[in-house]
Amino acid sequence: MDDLPHIAFFGAGSIGCFIGGAWQAAGLPVSFIGRPATRADIDKHGITVTDIDGARLHLPPGSVDFGTEAKGLAKADVIALCVKSNDTIAAAREIKKYGRKGAIVISFQNGVSNVQTLKQMLPGFDVIQGMVPFNVAYMWSGRWHKGVAGELVAEARPTTLAIAEKIGRRTGQLRTTSEVDGLAWGKLLINLNNAVNALSGKTLVEQLRDRDYRRVVAASMRETLAILERAGIKPAKLGPIAPDLLPHAIAAPDFLFRNTLLRAQRIDPHARSSMADDLAAGRRTEIDYLNGEVVKLAKSLKRKAPVNEAIVALVKQAEAGVEKKWGGRELRDHVLEGRAGPFGY
Ligand SMILES: NC(=O)c1ccc[n+]([C@@H]2O[C@H](COP(=O)([O-])OP(=O)(O)OC[C@H]3O[C@@H](n4cnc5c(N)ncnc54)[C@H](OP(=O)(O)O)[C@@H]3O)[C@@H](O)[C@H]2O)c1
Repeated sequence: MDDLPHIAFFGAGSIGCFIGGAWQAAGLPVSFIGRPATRADIDKHGITVTDIDGARLHLPPGSVDFGTEAKGLAKADVIALCVKSNDTIAAAREIKKYGRKGAIVISFQNGVSNVQTLKQMLPGFDVIQGMVPFNVAYMWSGRWHKGVAGELVAEARPTTLAIAEKIGRRTGQLRTTSEVDGLAWGKLLINLNNAVNALSGKTLVEQLRDRDYRRVVAASMRETLAILERAGIKPAKLGPIAPDLLPHAIAAPDFLFRNTLLRAQRIDPHARSSMADDLAAGRRTEIDYLNGEVVKLAKSLKRKAPVNEAIVALVKQAEAGVEKKWGGRELRDHVLEGRAGPFGY
């Protein structure tokens, strides 16, 4: 136990409590830094981690080291950063102040700019890319539920290899890789569904069963792929489908999509994107760090990304309090009107 690295989950909400809970249950030394409300819940109920395959792990109250102050970072060999992208800069300041130089900082966040921001702000730390390819929802009473299949990824280091080995094939399984180029953009392509799901007001399964929503997602993917090609960025292949083919697969006719990709994805019927949860809770979303990054990259190349721009605008409206659940056809007409590309939307 002594030679295992101590891992602090900084920004312990859905992702931090799920992964941290699973890793502690697998025998790793773990602590959590998050908000008082999360601590109060865990003090009462402990942490329960469940997943779509029926796994259920429980850490009883009293067994969880959950603090609310960043000074707890001082004991960490590994800082697993799980704050939303809007909070990265503030979190980096705290890591710089309290973290131990030489510690590994794994960004488990979505978005393509967090690792770069952290590297710039944290010289002397080993900042590495992580990736969470599944959805986690907070189910109250100390329970966090993984509602989509998939395994965690982190850049290979001797320490991340040791963590992966300790967890083995248990819940919270970690795959290490040295091929991180394009990983964040590969994930962003998939995350382009988040905004459409949030705008739909539906569960992921309901939304994905509707081809009109999927056509909007496919159009935003196609636009992103074109911009990435211009920028010379090659997004990584994260699932069974190569990035170039993703828009075709997503926009496939219903019977094909439902019986292949949707079935293979194994999504919990209640799961929604975390952006949907943010809107429901009146919180700022990560839209600037997802579709917004495509718009930003396009601008830097003196190009336009009208599909992603339209989606960003709708999410900003929703953030500002416009309560509207977009139907599939309605969203497709609004976002894609007059923009039929060579493949049709
Ligand atoms: N949830 C998912 O299904 C999912 C899946 C894949 C990837 N991700 C990515 O993972 C990242 C985290 O998402 P999440 O859903 O876990 O977010 P979350 O549930 O909001 O958890 C983040 C927690 O960190 C807290 N926090 C922020 N700054 C802090 C600080 N300086 N000190 C202590 N606590 C702090 C937040 O509190 P406040 O809310 O009070 O700020 C919140 O409780 C995001 O980049 C997201 O895109 C999420």
